[in-house]
Amino acid sequence: MALERTLILAKPDAVQRRLVGRIVTRIEDKGLSLVGMKMLQVTPELSRQHYAEHVNKPFYPDLEAFITSGPVVAMVVEGPEAIAVMRTLMGKTNARESAPGTIRGDLGASRQMNLIHGSDGPEAAKREIATYFRENELVSAPGMLAAALWAKEEE
Ligand code: RTP
Ligand code: MG
Repeated sequence: MALERTLILAKPDAVQRRLVGRIVTRIEDKGLSLVGMKMLQVTPELSRQHYAEHVNKPFYPDLEAFITSGPVVAMVVEGPEAIAVMRTLMGKTNARESAPGTIRGDLGASRQMNLIHGSDGPEAAKREIATYFRENELVSAPGMLAAALWAKEEE
């Protein structure tokens, strides 16, 4: 097991619907740490960089229009297996199929307007964190509670 970092976006629909606080609360409730956070406007260029794997897919123009439609809140989240933990917490891509109890399953009903992005693996996390944050914009996770949240060997 390993302490990991993952790139999370509260997407424009989450910002417009005033759900950012509830999304952050769910991440913090899980015991994960915020080590970076900022609000920004995704440009078409940044969208193409972030969603490079999807640029040639038929749904890309709609995806770009959506992700650039308003500000997002970008976060770097840290914890043991944070990448997979966040994907589970988010729920399936299509919010209509996401299980109740997940962020998408509880708060949305759309495949495109699905509220939250999370890196889907270690390579993507590394690339996406570097896309949104400079090293000096990231802090060390507050450590004092770690002993109550997970065993040392889980780090
Ligand atoms: P994300 O990258 O945003 O975390 O979402 P994901 O891994 O769960 O889903 P992914 O397959 O990477 O798709 C990226 C985003 O594109 C939109 N989408 N539209 N119309 C479609 O078929 C379709 N499929 C995906 C969603 O906003 C999805 O989150
Ligand atoms: Mg994805």
